[in-house]
Amino acid sequence: MAKLNAVVLLFTFVILLTDITTTTTVEAQGTNAKPLVKFKHDYFQTYQFENLFSKRNTPIAHAVGFWDYFSFINAASLFEPLGFGTTGNKTTQMMEIAAFLGHVGSKTSCGYGVATGGPLAWGLCYNHEMSPAQKYCDDYYKVDYPCTPGAEYYGRGAIPIYWNYNYGAAGKALNVNLLDHPEYIEQNATLAFQAAIWKWMTPVKKSQPSAHDAFVGNWKPTKNDTLGKRVPGFGATMNILYGEGVCGQGDVESMSNIVSHYLYYLDLLGVGREQAGTHDVLTCAEQLPFNPNTKLAAS
Ligand SMILES: *[C@@H]1O[C@H](CO)[C@@H](O)[C@H](O)[C@H]1NC(C)=O
Ligand SMILES: *[C@@H]1O[C@H](CO)[C@@H](O)[C@H](O)[C@H]1NC(C)=O
Ligand SMILES: *[C@@H]1O[C@H](CO)[C@@H](O)[C@H](O)[C@H]1NC(C)=O
Repeated sequence: MAKLNAVVLLFTFVILLTDITTTTTVEAQGTNAKPLVKFKHDYFQTYQFENLFSKRNTPIAHAVGFWDYFSFINAASLFEPLGFGTTGNKTTQMMEIAAFLGHVGSKTSCGYGVATGGPLAWGLCYNHEMSPAQKYCDDYYKVDYPCTPGAEYYGRGAIPIYWNYNYGAAGKALNVNLLDHPEYIEQNATLAFQAAIWKWMTPVKKSQPSAHDAFVGNWKPTKNDTLGKRVPGFGATMNILYGEGVCGQGDVESMSNIVSHYLYYLDLLGVGREQAGTHDVLTCAEQLPFNPNTKLAAS
C-alpha cells in the first residue's frame, strides 16, 4: 500500500512539474454555456456526462472549468437533424454517443496507469496540445488554406484538430474563421465539440463513409472494403479518423486505448460492453486503412 501511495505521489509530482514547465498563457475559460436547445433525447443527461468525465475538473487536470454538458448538448443539437444521436433505436443512439465520446475521452485523456479512479476516468483533461513541437503549417495547401502569420495550428479540441488545412476545412464548414483564429477552439467548448462532431459526420473523401455512417450502419462496404477487412462498426470509425496511425497493426496500444474508453462508456451509460460486437467489428486491428499515407485531422 505504501508503495502504491508513493507511486501515486510521484505521479502527481510529475504532473505538477509538467504544469510548471508547460503552462501556456492561454487559460482555459469556462464558456458557461446555457442550454440553447434541448437535446432531443433527454436520456443523455447531465449526471451521465459527469460520470463519463468525472476527473476533468480536478486541480491537476489541464482544462479545468472548460468542458461542460451544455456545450456538448448545444453542439450536438446542430447535428441532430443529420442523424447524430438520432439514428435507429434508443440502444443505437446511446451507442453512437458512447462511440463518439469514446474517441473524445481517449484523445483528451491525461490518465495513465496509476491515475486515481483508473486511467479511463480522465477524459476531457486537455483542450489543447501542451508542448507542440511545431506549428503544423503545410504550405502545400497555401492556395485554399494559407497559414496566417503568427497563428499556430497545433492540436486543439475534443477530437483534436491539427494542421492549417484541417482548421481551414472545419472553419469553412462551421462558418467560423479558424484559419485566422485557431485559438477559438481552445476558448469555446461548444465550438470545440461542434468541430469534433462535424469531423465525425463528414467523410474524408466523398466516396467513403463518415464515422457516423460507418457506425450506425448507413454504409455498405464495397468489394475493396471487404478485401481490406473493413466492416461497419466502431473499428471503422477509428480507420476513418486515424487510419494507419492506429489501424492494421494488430492490437496496439494506440488502438486499444480508444476501444477501452468506448467500452467503459457503454457500461456507464447502461448499454453494456457486451453490445459492442466481435473483435473484427469493434477494432480495426486487421483493417487496411481507407486512406494510406495521408495525414488525417485527428492524428
Ligand atoms: C436496436 O437496433 C439494432 C440495430 O438495428 C438491433 O440490432 C437491436 O436489436 C435493436 N434493439 C432493440 C432493443 O430494439
Ligand atoms: C462559441 O461558439 C458557438 C458556436 O459557434 C457560438 O454560437 C457562441 O457564440 C460562441 N461563444 C462565444 C462566447 O464566443
Ligand atoms: C482499394 O484499397 C486499397 C488499400 O486500402 C487502396 O489503396 C486502393 O486505392 C483502393 N481502390 C479503390 C478502387 O478504392
